[in-house]
Amino acid sequence: MRGELINEFPMDVQQVLQWADELVFERTGKHLTNLQQAVLLGVWDHQKYREIAQNYRSTEANVKKAAGALLQLISQELGKQVTKSNLRATMERYHISNVSSVGNFVQSNLVGGNINLCRESWHSAETSHQRSPSRTNTDKHYDMTDAPERDHFYDRSDELTTLKQWIVEENIRLVNLIGLSGIGKTAMAVELVDQIKDRFDIVIWRSHNQFLKQISLENNLLDILSQHQETKLNSLIEYLRSYRCLIILDDLQETFNRGELAGTYLPGYQNYSKFLKKIASFSHNSCFVLISSEKPLGIATLEAESLYCRSLHLTGLGESAREMLKTRGLTDDDKWLELITLYDGNPSWLNIISTTILDLFNGSVTQFLACPMPFLGDLETILSESYLRLSESEKSVMFCLARVQSLDITHKPTDFSGSHADFLKALQSLCRRFLVNKNLENGGSSFNLKPVIKEYIKLQIINKE
Ligand SMILES: Nc1ncnc2c1ncn2[C@@H]1O[C@H](COP(=O)(O)OP(=O)(O)OP(=O)(O)O)[C@@H](O)[C@H]1O
Ligand SMILES: [Mg+2]
Repeated sequence: MRGELINEFPMDVQQVLQWADELVFERTGKHLTNLQQAVLLGVWDHQKYREIAQNYRSTEANVKKAAGALLQLISQELGKQVTKSNLRATMERYHISNVSSVGNFVQSNLVGGNINLCRESWHSAETSHQRSPSRTNTDKHYDMTDAPERDHFYDRSDELTTLKQWIVEENIRLVNLIGLSGIGKTAMAVELVDQIKDRFDIVIWRSHNQFLKQISLENNLLDILSQHQETKLNSLIEYLRSYRCLIILDDLQETFNRGELAGTYLPGYQNYSKFLKKIASFSHNSCFVLISSEKPLGIATLEAESLYCRSLHLTGLGESAREMLKTRGLTDDDKWLELITLYDGNPSWLNIISTTILDLFNGSVTQFLACPMPFLGDLETILSESYLRLSESEKSVMFCLARVQSLDITHKPTDFSGSHADFLKALQSLCRRFLVNKNLENGGSSFNLKPVIKEYIKLQIINKE
């Protein structure tokens, strides 16, 4: 049940946000939008609509419209005319007496029957310094020690725009950055953080490969967050509510079993799905960015269920990889696109192959491409890392795919020994690892391998025979 408002006690804006969120949800079946939250916070801070629009990067007309609808709902609920200028005074005469359904997880924070949330849950860098002193003592805290350094970065502007839209504008709480190993997920996340870190109070970058167990990872995050403030909160979610945190967790694939179908958690991470579900479904204004070369099981369902979970599948660099080849000092730029296409625009693969072209062909892409293609060389080592993660049934499907141009999956290949259902399961798992391409053809779909991967699998078939 939604918390009631009663007279007497001063009110924290967090409580107002929570109360308004529940009110809106009860009336419309939807939670407060980011814009409505920004409006509420701005009005609370006596900002003009123009300022709120500027801070939120929206138009004044949009802000006015959102404010009008919100104030009308609040007026109806309180039975009195609430306007922009009397909202704060009106609300400050009230206090939330009951813990609400949304606030179940803050029950432990009840002090003398009152909710003691203390901090604001959402604010942009622009608005934070306009807050009253009691709510502005949040020093920025950036912990990027585990992130690689920023380096040359070639155009990913479309993907960066999408991610910024999701994180900054739409307040998405769980973003999954997924794609094949070496495609540039980590590099792009480093760039993303650099571009949006000012919008957050706390930024932490961690890699899953440092934590064998979920509990160690959670404790590590709690340690960092609690060092950041005087009052200790009880759970990660409370910190996510009290501060706007950006937490990047790289190498999620390290939490998955090897030799089994993709995305199944290791024993130390068996409750991770539940944890991620909480991050996406509990009300807070922080963001987790998960980076993985395997799509976790359950994420697709979470995306369907929650408006606050999204995945971005990163693919090759395309034309912008030309910059990379130029920096490496390759020649014959008329052949660069052919090289980029052959190596699927994968920056890691292109870097490795560029070294070979420099070492053996003096930088000439034409001479290199005149050899039998695709050449793997040092790529074999990194491809073997992905290969060793596969289950036996997936390896078997890869062998089938390496022998044909493309595979129509309505018929099980004769050289796959398991059932048709096993074949489909293995294929779906390979899709979750981004190792196979799906092609839409005449309303149906067929599957094939990228040339580099196909070549690698052919070598495995030869080694096996
Ligand atoms: N947009 C880019 N511009 C320049 N270099 C890039 C770009 N993206 C990736 N790279 C380079 O390619 C290499 C692989 O990138 P990165 O480590 O980000 O891949 P990844 O997808 O995180 O791989 P993995 O799944 O193995 O961790 C790195 O050396 C990185 O600097
Ligand atoms: Mg990476």
